[in-house]
Amino acid sequence: MEIIHISAECYPVAKVGGLADVVGALPKYQNKLSHFAKVVVPAYDTKFVRESEFEVTYDAWANYGNNHFQYRILKEKTNKLGFDLYIVHIQGLTDRPNVYGYHDDTERFIAFQIATLDWIVQWEHRPDVIHCHDHHTGLVPFMMTNCIKYQPISSVPTVLTIHNAQYQGQFGWDKLYYLPAFDLWKAGLLGWERDINPLASAIKCAWSVTTVSPSYLSEMMSNARGLESLLRQEHGKCIGILNGIDAEVWNPETDPMLGTNYSIKTFEQGKEANKKALCSVFGLDASKPLFTFIGRLVDEKGADILPDIFYTALQQHSEEINILVLGSGDPWVEGRLNQLKDIFSAQYNAYIGYNEQVSHEIYASADFLLMPSRVEPCGLNQLYALRYGTVPIVRRVGGLRDTVIDIGDNGFGICHDQTSIWDVTHAINRAIEFYNDKKKFKAVRKTMMKIDHSWDRAALNYIELYQKLK
Ligand code: ADP
Ligand code: GLC
Repeated sequence: MEIIHISAECYPVAKVGGLADVVGALPKYQNKLSHFAKVVVPAYDTKFVRESEFEVTYDAWANYGNNHFQYRILKEKTNKLGFDLYIVHIQGLTDRPNVYGYHDDTERFIAFQIATLDWIVQWEHRPDVIHCHDHHTGLVPFMMTNCIKYQPISSVPTVLTIHNAQYQGQFGWDKLYYLPAFDLWKAGLLGWERDINPLASAIKCAWSVTTVSPSYLSEMMSNARGLESLLRQEHGKCIGILNGIDAEVWNPETDPMLGTNYSIKTFEQGKEANKKALCSVFGLDASKPLFTFIGRLVDEKGADILPDIFYTALQQHSEEINILVLGSGDPWVEGRLNQLKDIFSAQYNAYIGYNEQVSHEIYASADFLLMPSRVEPCGLNQLYALRYGTVPIVRRVGGLRDTVIDIGDNGFGICHDQTSIWDVTHAINRAIEFYNDKKKFKAVRKTMMKIDHSWDRAALNYIELYQKLK
């Protein structure tokens, strides 16, 4: 099958979070199953784009309301990612360093979607499926089935994967004219509540909708940032497919970002060596258990309560633990996490920012990884933690519920029910007790490193889904 993934992120081209990891891995695994998966993303001004070689595949003009823009489709020459990568270059719109956060993000992603479909519609053949990811590509299913110029591809099945329904990309009806012509009586397919809502539109118009874990799908029936009733209505075409991880990139035996590589057999020495190196960089004591957090500092991750959790835990266990944070986001949370450095200088540190290398070093060095998420559609951090022998401490929600079993139930993680300071500090107390039971701690780490969360299974689940749509 020829599968076209359209997305705002793809690792290593451009990454903000787990969406990039998924789109950078799933197509590779689909190709291993002898399919032909391709990825289309905007041509940002990122290191990967600057340092890779591209050839121009298509160069054209597209209409955009009363204006038009020139765009170029560029193909990465070497196929080094394990799939054909196409980037869509629109001067002045896509060629910026960041993926999101600009005042004209709506215009940028609409233009990206129009350019992509304008290009695909003039191919001599039709792809087997178009797979869209999140709201940034959510207008594609509507446009393919309703815009007159895309009639030739209206029979190509579309799949929407919801990675995160917290973000829906809403914009006002005054921007409706950006879209290519369609029968106006169909405009209702674009709207939800008072706005044009690309995520809602994709849920209505895609042939099939997937969520990145089964539990997230069930939770969305009652908690989906306003889309609950729509999801209940469209439930018949929705399915939860648990994400995998790229076991080639996330492999402690070969990971080039680690000072010391290690396997299941050598994990104790390997983790210790990495921990020593990391603790010396961050002024921490490698002889104590290392608790960490990696992620976007936003409310859905429970980041707002992290400073209080750390303060409480460090007061209670000042001589017993270390804490290291890697993240960026809410400036208020960033400020409070920085303040803690002055209070607990020998037991706590925070790296405020984004750093892929440090994230790998943390997964390899840490004893525990905290994820007190309020919402977690899948979560990849806990899967990386498991592979690197780091015990996840998670709230029972979404994909965390589907992937982490508590040590009390013969599992390999520590689970709690609420995103609250009390629940998480209680979980930390349990973790310290667990850490001190050296024999059990070692055995559990060994078990969790053996769990196979690679994309093999999920890549096949998606293929089976596409086949049903044909
Ligand atoms: P989300 O996509 O909601 O942010 P996921 O758990 O699916 O959450 O994926 C997060 C990804 O982003 C992981 O690969 C994680 O290691 C990475 N990540 C998050 N914050 C940072 C950071 N500050 N520096 C480096 N990597 C980060
Ligand atoms: C989103 C979710 C996260 C998920 C990721 C990849 O960003 O917040 O839980 O793991 O997408 O699907």
